[in-house]
Amino acid sequence: MPIQQKCLVLDHQKLNSTYFKLTLASDYIASHGLPGQFVEVRVSNDTDPLLRRPISLHRVDPAKKTFELLYEIVGQGTEMLSRIKIGEELSVLGPLGSGFKIDKKIALLAAGGMGIAPLRFLAEQAIKKTKAVYVFIGAKTHEQVSQEEDFRQMGCQVIVATEDGSSGSKGLITDLLVHFIDTQLSTLDAPRSTLYACGPHAMLKVIAEIAQQKKIDAQVSLEAWMACGLGACKGCAIETKNGYKMVCEDGPVFNAEDIKW
Ligand SMILES: Cc1cc2nc3c(=O)[nH]c(=O)nc-3n(C[C@H](O)[C@H](O)[C@H](O)COP(=O)(O)OP(=O)(O)OC[C@H]3O[C@@H](n4cnc5c(N)ncnc54)[C@H](O)[C@@H]3O)c2cc1C
Ligand code: FES
Repeated sequence: MPIQQKCLVLDHQKLNSTYFKLTLASDYIASHGLPGQFVEVRVSNDTDPLLRRPISLHRVDPAKKTFELLYEIVGQGTEMLSRIKIGEELSVLGPLGSGFKIDKKIALLAAGGMGIAPLRFLAEQAIKKTKAVYVFIGAKTHEQVSQEEDFRQMGCQVIVATEDGSSGSKGLITDLLVHFIDTQLSTLDAPRSTLYACGPHAMLKVIAEIAQQKKIDAQVSLEAWMACGLGACKGCAIETKNGYKMVCEDGPVFNAEDIKW
């Protein structure tokens, strides 16, 4: 059940030329948020921009009653967000949407660019429940490779690919994923694995194809333009094999095989 509240900004860091990390206080979101869920953030007290901006839960810390958001500047709203200072308050609505389901012994996490944001929280939960967590981080350049060392320290195996070769292997992370499945995941392991992905739509479509070919269940976190975030405005509808669904309420996490790509 989402609530709307003012959250105190406890920390706000520019991690590199691309990514920012916000730490906010909320007992409720820290204790109720699930991996894959998101919050809608009001970036201005003014009417411009009027609409809240959806940002995934990056991490929660129930003991400290805090949660973190990882984001990049793409337009007016996120640029305004980047100017928020420690000690100020942000109006936040959440936690929203349905999260990832951690149901198998092997978790394969694939991130494209900012798609890494919800996967940190997922990895933390998955490592507690599964035997093995593999994280595939794909980005255009090394500037967009985030959290690599943190994932390793958690006990995940991490594989990185950048399009320009400035970090990890040169190429697409989906190619490394296929290679990994073919060479390291035996046919016995495939049914015990779930593939989780977040990133650009084109990457998620490829992930869905890989999952189908390799007979691995896949859950993908989709993005859509959002207004209310609560299923009311119908602005975030996507077509699935079971009719139109709202990304904000029915998702953002969907079974890859259910989406009409
Ligand atoms: C469920 C969900 C979770 C998200 N989690 C994160 C996150 O953890 N970190 C993060 O950095 N971003 C995340 N996003 C994307 C983020 O919401 C947008 O980048 C943000 O709303 C852009 O606002 P803006 O005012 O800065 O840009 P705008 O001025 O609104 O837009 C700038 C450009 O970005 C495009 N754009 C805006 N919103 C989206 C969108 N949702 N999908 C695709 N293109 C878009 C616009 O078409 C435009 O070209 C998430 C989106 C969704 C739907
Ligand atoms: S954003 Fe309004 S229905 Fe999804």
